[in-house]
Amino acid sequence: MAEDLQIMTGNKTEQYESLIPQLKALLAGETDPVANMANLVAALKEQFGWLWVGFYVVKNEELVLAPFQGPVACTRIKKGRGVCGSSWARAQTLVVPDVEKFPGHIACSSLSKSEIVVPVIRNRQVVAVLDVDSSEYGHFDNTDQQYLETIVNLVEF
Ligand code: SME
Repeated sequence: MAEDLQIMTGNKTEQYESLIPQLKALLAGETDPVANMANLVAALKEQFGWLWVGFYVVKNEELVLAPFQGPVACTRIKKGRGVCGSSWARAQTLVVPDVEKFPGHIACSSLSKSEIVVPVIRNRQVVAVLDVDSSEYGHFDNTDQQYLETIVNLVEF
């Protein structure tokens, strides 16, 4: 396993393209989902420097906070609540350019201005979501969606 990440400068696509093979190497040979979620969010935080990046996993019909990097966050989110609960309920990625304009957005940090939430789907069920927050408005786009949807599939659940 590679222990040091090579941090790529450049455009978003170049950064994701450099990171994905490193993530594959980082997760190879480890099947524990917590260990893999932990390294995955650490690598994403190191490469992109986002405000917050982490997982919430579905447990007993709630989303429960799982490995993350960034400021402390709310621990439980109900289905349909906030961006995370809505992504879970709809089983689709949500890109939110301005969190204040998203009805029911849950403000874990007042510094968060935009957000993307990607559901992790296994056997046609949402088992977790990956949530990323930025301190800049409109930070996430279709490129983030495509790459993050690929990246969440690297983790076994
Ligand atoms: N803003 C999210 C809650 C999670 S935090 O951002 C870490 C939401 O509305 O679901």
